[in-house]
Amino acid sequence: MKTLLEIITEEFEKAFEEKGYEKQLGRVVVSNRPDLCQYQCNGAMAGAKKYHKAPIMIANDVVEVLQNNDKFEMIEAVMPGFINMNLSSSFVADYLNELKDSEKYGVEAQDKTVVVDYGGANVAKPLHVGHLRPAVIGESVKRIKEYVGNNVIGDAHLGDWGLQMGLIIMELKERQPDLVYFDESYTGEYPEEPPFTLDELSEIYPTASAKSKEDAAFKEAAQLATVKIQQEYPPYLALWKHIMSVSLPDLKKNYNNLDVDFDLWKGESDAKPYIPELMDILEKKGLSHESQGALVVDVAEEGDKKELPPCIVRKSDGAALYATSDLGTIIQRQKDFTPNEYIYVADKRQELHFTQVFRVAKKAELVPEGTKLEYMGFGTVNGSDGKPFKTRDGGVMRLEMLIDQINDAVYQKMMENRSMDEAEARDISKTVGLAALKYGDLSNQATKDYIFDIERFASFEGNTGPYILYTIVRIKSILEKYQAEGNSVDGLEILDTDKNEQMNLMLEVSKVKEVIENAAEELAPHKICAYIYDLSNVFNSFYHSTKILAETDAEKQKGYVALIKMTKEVLETCIDLLGFKAPERM
Ligand code: ARG
Repeated sequence: MKTLLEIITEEFEKAFEEKGYEKQLGRVVVSNRPDLCQYQCNGAMAGAKKYHKAPIMIANDVVEVLQNNDKFEMIEAVMPGFINMNLSSSFVADYLNELKDSEKYGVEAQDKTVVVDYGGANVAKPLHVGHLRPAVIGESVKRIKEYVGNNVIGDAHLGDWGLQMGLIIMELKERQPDLVYFDESYTGEYPEEPPFTLDELSEIYPTASAKSKEDAAFKEAAQLATVKIQQEYPPYLALWKHIMSVSLPDLKKNYNNLDVDFDLWKGESDAKPYIPELMDILEKKGLSHESQGALVVDVAEEGDKKELPPCIVRKSDGAALYATSDLGTIIQRQKDFTPNEYIYVADKRQELHFTQVFRVAKKAELVPEGTKLEYMGFGTVNGSDGKPFKTRDGGVMRLEMLIDQINDAVYQKMMENRSMDEAEARDISKTVGLAALKYGDLSNQATKDYIFDIERFASFEGNTGPYILYTIVRIKSILEKYQAEGNSVDGLEILDTDKNEQMNLMLEVSKVKEVIENAAEELAPHKICAYIYDLSNVFNSFYHSTKILAETDAEKQKGYVALIKMTKEVLETCIDLLGFKAPERM
């Protein structure tokens, strides 16, 4: 299905051609002066030079052709040569009726295989505010890519192979030196029970991490232990498995609370079987060489604006690095899925890492030519002081705490002006709180830092998640009342109108297909946020200017109901793409 803009542009292209001008001039855009008109075409301005004519003459020619076209309610050439137009409401109504009945609003199915690598939590470290963005943005990108007809695989790519594991093991050794894992002469089976609980583990890691910053010998021992895990030294591998089995369920619970779900819960360690193959390819293609004991691949290219250091694929102590596991994972993903596109959602400070990894992948032909490797770097979540968000006493803000705080803020707002059962309000505040959190994040362009402002995010007014939900709930309630009077909301058609507020709503609804397609193309959930904010605003001004339930003309009322129902469905589709839901009431 075509967009409204495409349909009108075609009319213009024909008109330009009919008058002897090239059809490329016929491009129509949304008006930048909505007070004057809905859409405009500036092709006459562009054509003036080529045809040695005053632009207004070209514009007049084109308007002459389109004057009686019933898609336009108004069309005029204005000095110095713009063409302004308003669409006829019956044309827009017909378009909407077709759009509402077409599957997924007629978005073009892309049919690609896409891997979205997001989340990326490091196992055994508690989830904190820094894990919010990779989870929330990645989940939304995954859903958007899926909606436009791709086969999408979301992979958590957990950090399960790094120094934190060695740190935990060394700290454990200091605390419980008598454990069999530390007895080199021990040859029996290792216990099935982990030697720590989740709570203990959550405390062991930060202690060890702090110690490693002061105690160089301790850090070195932890590094050595990490290498030993990677080399599958049996007692440490057994401990590593315990760390995994204790942390993973908790990690899954945390992501579940965010309504974030992965198809694959793989981690860096899963790249291990592919690393020998990787090293082999790099060597055979003559890409890797020794440098100060380490193995590196040069990735600098002519025309680089910044100097790109070589990518280290093996440290001098034999340890695999971050880049090694990402490259090994590419080999694994090629074997398992042969994706057309890879999208990595990670902190924007990792740009160098991904540039290096992508270059090595291309140079070594780990992926065929034409495979898209994309890095979606996101900015930092800051507090009101403009510095990375912290707890009041300056500590790391745990994700769970953050969620509780925002749910609480929403709960307070709900109780302020409503009488609602406490338990019900608590329950609803979880749904609304999640929307507040996710919308607060996603409404910012991913690359930008933003200020985490609980009060603002939880507000029921302004550009916020709760405001969008409130709008949806408002429509639900109208539809419910309408049905309670014995009417059906199904199979109704949107009608033409001479009311501005209704026309504005119709035009806004009509944009849904291009907004979603564009968000998928540009990996831009924030564009969906901007759209549903506009849509909610035009809906609310329609609502305030129109008596829907009190309308006495039953036919007219059916037209209203059809339009607001479609508005609700578009809003619900969009929030689902952002990763949250609306409650029944709030
Ligand atoms: N675990 C990493 C970190 O905490 C993020 C992982 C991003 N994804 C990737 N394939 N490297 O920084």
